[in-house]
Amino acid sequence: MSPSAGGLVVFLLSVQVIQSQDGWGVNYRQTDICAVKGSTVYISCIIKHPSGKYPSDIKDRFWFTKEKDGEPVDLRTDSEYSGRVEYDCYTKGCTLIIKDPRKSDSAEYKFTFMTSKSGEKYTGSPGVTLSVKDSGFQVQVRRSDSTWLELTCPSSCVLSDRAEYDWSKNGEIIKRGSSLRVSSGSTDRYSCYLRGSWDNGSPAVYGPWRPSVSVSPSAEMLEGDSLTLTCSTDANPAANYTWYKEAGTSDPRILSEKPQLIFSSIQSSDSGRYFCTAENQLGRKRSEFISINVKYGPRRPSVSVSPSAEMLEGDSLTLTCSTDANPAANYTWYKEHGTSDPRLVSEKPQLIFSSIQSFDSGRYFCATENRLGRKRSDFILIPVKCE
Ligand SMILES: *[C@@H]1O[C@H](CO)[C@@H](O)[C@H](O)[C@H]1NC(C)=O
Ligand SMILES: *[C@@H]1O[C@H](CO)[C@@H](O)[C@H](O)[C@H]1NC(C)=O
Repeated sequence: MSPSAGGLVVFLLSVQVIQSQDGWGVNYRQTDICAVKGSTVYISCIIKHPSGKYPSDIKDRFWFTKEKDGEPVDLRTDSEYSGRVEYDCYTKGCTLIIKDPRKSDSAEYKFTFMTSKSGEKYTGSPGVTLSVKDSGFQVQVRRSDSTWLELTCPSSCVLSDRAEYDWSKNGEIIKRGSSLRVSSGSTDRYSCYLRGSWDNGSPAVYGPWRPSVSVSPSAEMLEGDSLTLTCSTDANPAANYTWYKEAGTSDPRILSEKPQLIFSSIQSSDSGRYFCTAENQLGRKRSEFISINVKYGPRRPSVSVSPSAEMLEGDSLTLTCSTDANPAANYTWYKEHGTSDPRLVSEKPQLIFSSIQSFDSGRYFCATENRLGRKRSDFILIPVKCE
């Protein structure tokens, strides 16, 4: 039935509705569309002619969201859409193309047209609801058990009934469906798409790659230097980082839960093996070990005397000099020699008298040295009694 009866025309004019079963009509392909900023949105409709034939008698047609003085405003004349909208119309239908959609484009879009018959106007209502989001779909990760993860593709957009998801792995479509099971720790890149809206795919999610470690300024340093260890990897969602130090047979000790481990003044006790881990919802990976070797000059050496009892001529005696240094220090033993320079008596850590004599009595000290410094011990007094 054509809306030719006068009363019906007036009715259509005043409320601009046409969805009658056998009159003119507008069918929208989708009535709810999600879009991501930076993509392109396509909103399509088909015009239904009362005769069921191709509508050859359409005069003017356009898309709108706003009305002015009761009249729809062609989007192409709306300054907010300037340069961003195009129509791709043909006899039977029309597609609205919105480039680079903005959040403010979220609205109900309707298609309207006039027929060649004077005063006949039709608007497809309700229209198509577009929601433009900062980021489109986000893959959500749920741990099923220790080896499997379940990925889902939730969206706050109201999707049409026909919406289906496709899943891609490293850029190739591998599955259709609302969820995807993947193994924990995978570094493959998974994305979900709303079928038919290829521009609205989610960012890929993937577990962290084995993190790499960098040392600044270098892995060889002197006590008191500052040092920064940095752990980095690639993962989405972004990985969190943990720094550990090996602790012999016990569990490694957690030192930091930041990507950087910073020593403002490194100490010899900081020497050791470190590693970091990177973790996100998809898995956890650990770095190689990094060895930190803090160099320092010798500490003041200590001396042990063995045996410690009073000595008689002919006894044996060992003086041992010890210190801590990195790199290892060398040792020299000296005996005081009146007012002249002390006399070097040994270039070993141990000074051994196999049969001590009274002329061995005196004051001794040892010195230790590496390329970072030199330290000497206190004096040791060796009294030797004659029998
Ligand atoms: C790091 O991320 C994992 C996975 O999301 C989480 O279970 C863990 O609690 C996070 N650790 C820290 C220190 O934030
Ligand atoms: C001990 O080490 C220092 C620094 O490396 C070096 O100059 C010196 O000659 C060494 N002395 C001996 C006795 O080896």
